[in-house]
Amino acid sequence: VEGNEGASEPRFSEWACQRSTPLKHQNDFLATQLEILQKYAEMKDENHDYSRALAFRRASCVVKSFPITVTNVNQLNGINHVGPHSKRVIGELLDGYCDEINRIVNEEWFEKMKMFTGVFGVGPSTAKKWIERGWTSIKDAQESTDISKDWRVQWGLAFHDDLMNPVKSNEAYRFTEIIQTEAEKILPGIVVQLTGGFRRGKHQGHDIDILFTHPNGEETGFLPKLLTRLEKLNMVLCGSHESSSFHEKVLSEDFKLTARGQLDHFEKWLGICKLPKDLVSGDDAQIPLSNGLEKCTEIKENVDSLDDYEPKAKKQRKCHGDNSPFTIATSERDWIARRVDFIMSPYSQYYYALVGWTGSKQFNRDLRLYSQKVLNRKLTSHGFYDFTTGKTLPANSETEVFENLNLQYQHPKNRNC
Ligand code: CTP
Ligand code: MN
Ligand code: MN
Ligand code: MN
Repeated sequence: VEGNEGASEPRFSEWACQRSTPLKHQNDFLATQLEILQKYAEMKDENHDYSRALAFRRASCVVKSFPITVTNVNQLNGINHVGPHSKRVIGELLDGYCDEINRIVNEEWFEKMKMFTGVFGVGPSTAKKWIERGWTSIKDAQESTDISKDWRVQWGLAFHDDLMNPVKSNEAYRFTEIIQTEAEKILPGIVVQLTGGFRRGKHQGHDIDILFTHPNGEETGFLPKLLTRLEKLNMVLCGSHESSSFHEKVLSEDFKLTARGQLDHFEKWLGICKLPKDLVSGDDAQIPLSNGLEKCTEIKENVDSLDDYEPKAKKQRKCHGDNSPFTIATSERDWIARRVDFIMSPYSQYYYALVGWTGSKQFNRDLRLYSQKVLNRKLTSHGFYDFTTGKTLPANSETEVFENLNLQYQHPKNRNC
């Protein structure tokens, strides 16, 4: 940390959380190619170790935040996280041909793995089983009667055509505004924040991540009420509600920094929503965040009984996969299926949750590792724990989270590692 601040030309930090990583950068080709190696290593990995995959990801993060266009691999001499393997690959790519990557992108197995893991609820191990069965297309899985009972897989397959089509930022903004409007009716003062890739300025993503909190701590029971309301508006296809599993111990417990993301203990709802098609159409760049609701007024009917949250509805909501998934041709409906994550954070943890859910995954991984290695503290989406005092440092803004970590603030748009 020391020695960096105030210097006119800060040296290139080994920590991605001390560097600015914008969405658009000068080494896109190299980063993309290194992430092919990351993805491939993740899929090949049998012991869920992911260290090889992460090594490629860190090398990719280096080139994404590198101040100049890499034209010669020697420009990366002495830079941490660009190991011999990544260096060789970069050298070959700059010379115009990398045999290792060329073989991977031409491997049928890799194509199928990418295709199958693109299904909601399907990870590398399920994808491998499907390949072993001889399945070569999504259709093979859709037509099989012997398939995982996991509701996510069932609905994921049924609406795969919709879900593989990326969510655009205008959709995400407009959906968030609908949620904001409905949420405010249920619980005045509720904070509704679009997070994930869209908060980092991405133009498209695989889902819509919305984080909630309430400054007066009145959030108990809110998410189920919101889901009841969205069901009335005919905007829910399926999903599952998870209660908070937070307890003080999670602040200090040993934790694993894995490649497949970090688990938190917030109350959440993960599912698939039905977004009106007219919400989806329109030009990505032109819709400002503030007036996105104009086209969706027909679904903004009056609130009737928002408090009629019966146990029966609760059971259904817990797992919509209890009902068998159905399919309707996209031309026969006025909605499109979209993956949605709703997360509820207590206000005292909110800014840590905001950093955690804004991502990127790799930015978080780096923040947490930095906090462990450099500060001997544990950072999670729930707080920042000091092992020596046994206390957590409060944060009343995102800036304060960075201050607590003794890091320069990074704008979300620069957290695209
Ligand atoms: N996240 C998390 N815990 C989870 C799932 C996700 O903390 N159980 C974090 C991830 O680290 C990520 C952010 O929440 O930074 C959003 O997750 P995700 O939607 O998977 O990634 P995005 O960056 O939004 O990418 P995409 O645009 O493809 O959705
Ligand atoms: Mn190697
Ligand atoms: Mn997301
Ligand atoms: Mn998500």
